[in-house]
Amino acid sequence: CGIIGHVGNENSLETLLTGLENLEYRGYDSAGVAVQNGSGIDVEKRSGEVDELKASIEGVSLDGTVGIGHTRWSTHGPPTDENAHPHTDETEDVAVVHNGIIENYAELRAWLREKGHEFTSETDTEVIPHLIQYFIDSGRDNETAFRRAIDELEGSYAITAMFSGEHVLYAARKGSPLVVGVEDDEFFLASDVPAFLEYTDSVVFLEDGDVVVVDHDGVEFTDLAGEPIIREPETVDWDPEQAGKGGYDHFMLKEINEQPTSLAQAVEGRIDPENGRITLEDLGPGTFAGIETVQLVACGTSYHAALYGSIALNRAGIRTTAVLANEYSISAPPVDDGTLVIAVTQSGETADTLSALRQAKLEGARTLTVTNVVGSTAARVATDALFIRAGPEIGVAATKTFSSQAIMLVLLARRIAADTQSDPPENGEALLAELAGMPDRTEDVLATSDAERIARRYHDSRSYFFIGRGLGFPVALEGALKFKEITYEHAEGFASGELKHGPLALVTPETPVFAVFTGEEDEKTLKNASEAQTRGAPVVAVCPAGHEALEIADGHLEIPETNSTLAGLFANVQLQLVSYHAASLLDRPIDKPRNLAKSVTVE
Ligand code: G6P
Repeated sequence: CGIIGHVGNENSLETLLTGLENLEYRGYDSAGVAVQNGSGIDVEKRSGEVDELKASIEGVSLDGTVGIGHTRWSTHGPPTDENAHPHTDETEDVAVVHNGIIENYAELRAWLREKGHEFTSETDTEVIPHLIQYFIDSGRDNETAFRRAIDELEGSYAITAMFSGEHVLYAARKGSPLVVGVEDDEFFLASDVPAFLEYTDSVVFLEDGDVVVVDHDGVEFTDLAGEPIIREPETVDWDPEQAGKGGYDHFMLKEINEQPTSLAQAVEGRIDPENGRITLEDLGPGTFAGIETVQLVACGTSYHAALYGSIALNRAGIRTTAVLANEYSISAPPVDDGTLVIAVTQSGETADTLSALRQAKLEGARTLTVTNVVGSTAARVATDALFIRAGPEIGVAATKTFSSQAIMLVLLARRIAADTQSDPPENGEALLAELAGMPDRTEDVLATSDAERIARRYHDSRSYFFIGRGLGFPVALEGALKFKEITYEHAEGFASGELKHGPLALVTPETPVFAVFTGEEDEKTLKNASEAQTRGAPVVAVCPAGHEALEIADGHLEIPETNSTLAGLFANVQLQLVSYHAASLLDRPIDKPRNLAKSVTVE
């Protein structure tokens, strides 16, 4: 989601709307603004894009020199007018915009309801203005009430709040980005620099735990305890075109680099730190009782995530098949009420996947959608939905949504096992610890990757092969799909063991082989890779440092030592980078490959 706040000498509305347009790449399913009109707060918000908000407020007078705005990417509750931000308390004395996830919102809401507060939306955010109002009602001033409310929040947030009759903005950050822009006596708050780049290039990047108070006289930076801190402005030299891409040349590279955050968001609040149990919001304990088999239906990259998930589910003792959604109508395995059919779809709008989902439902299966888009058709058609919270993905080639879908299915496997087995597999403390460390380790992979050099060395080859075994197999398939999508070069993914059953005939010194090692029968994969190398093919090993494959490999893409369930996802990040750099060297239109669409809504 995108946040904008403005304190100036002229009308804020236009600045807010421009900011929202600049932030639409962060979310575009609903938008809203709140402006201080002198005596109170005027709020205008609705589902739909910023243009629709603009059209609906044309002619409405929203005068004021202080305001906040928000463009939303739903994670709690569908994109409706009520769920759009800003949110207020009943009296409309406090308006709040928020990014992030308030993990304890359900408890806070129940507690506030007991105190007589009434809620109108399904969002986690709405508890914030109510909480602030509660502290005001109990005698605190605005700033103290804001700080007290922040103290109660668990989870992640970037928050900006304003109070009726006061020309001040209050903001706080923990785990979600927030920046301050300064231009003489005009001030901006935003989730991201592009929001206000046309007004100022002087930016303060806030850190977790920072609380700021902004009025016409300036910005006060403090910590959570209210102690003053020093934050110096920096000058950013991004051009506006690059700015929307976070300074990267392409959305795809930006999205690859967002994976530490998107993965953290996918698991946030979903693993109970006390007992390692997986909690999936509305899908409470017992939701999956009676499930005997699982079918995953999906297309393209999501199908590869589904394959990844099917291996995790089978390993958790749940009989699972992954089926290409476009094959489902003629090749679906039988279903009954003990079958759970899970649609895996980033967009939630893929026609093939919807049709498989509808068929399964009609035939009596139970249904669930794993998607990035709250309110999407697939989320509505299935009985239940789980959201991967990856944020908007603009590059046509799916990257961060693949890893988030895969992780979601790994969590789901444990959750279904807990509901369906009297003796579910061990909670796997090790896996949970690895999951917690995954964002940082992904960051390391991104920071130290040798993918550009490898791409430079091999990008004029004839064909590219990707092999892997176990969880490395879907990663090999995805590596090849990404490569062909954006480089326009021929690439194929195989199960390592299949190489000798046909594809080996194609292997020459002109066909580099990327071999993924996930710690599952690596010695066999190494043997397969060596067979290709004997025929002259260069071998790039995707494996941890010190791995035996490095004794023969011609190139190395390093992944951390980890549980095999996660190793494949690190390998995938390396392969995404190889595809990206090869496509960039070949000068391809990376974000919009020819003949492809982000979401295919025809069968
Ligand atoms: C299109 C896109 C692919 C995507 C597939 C499935 O073909 O180009 O990148 O993997 O659709 O999309 P979904 O939204 O269902 O995940």
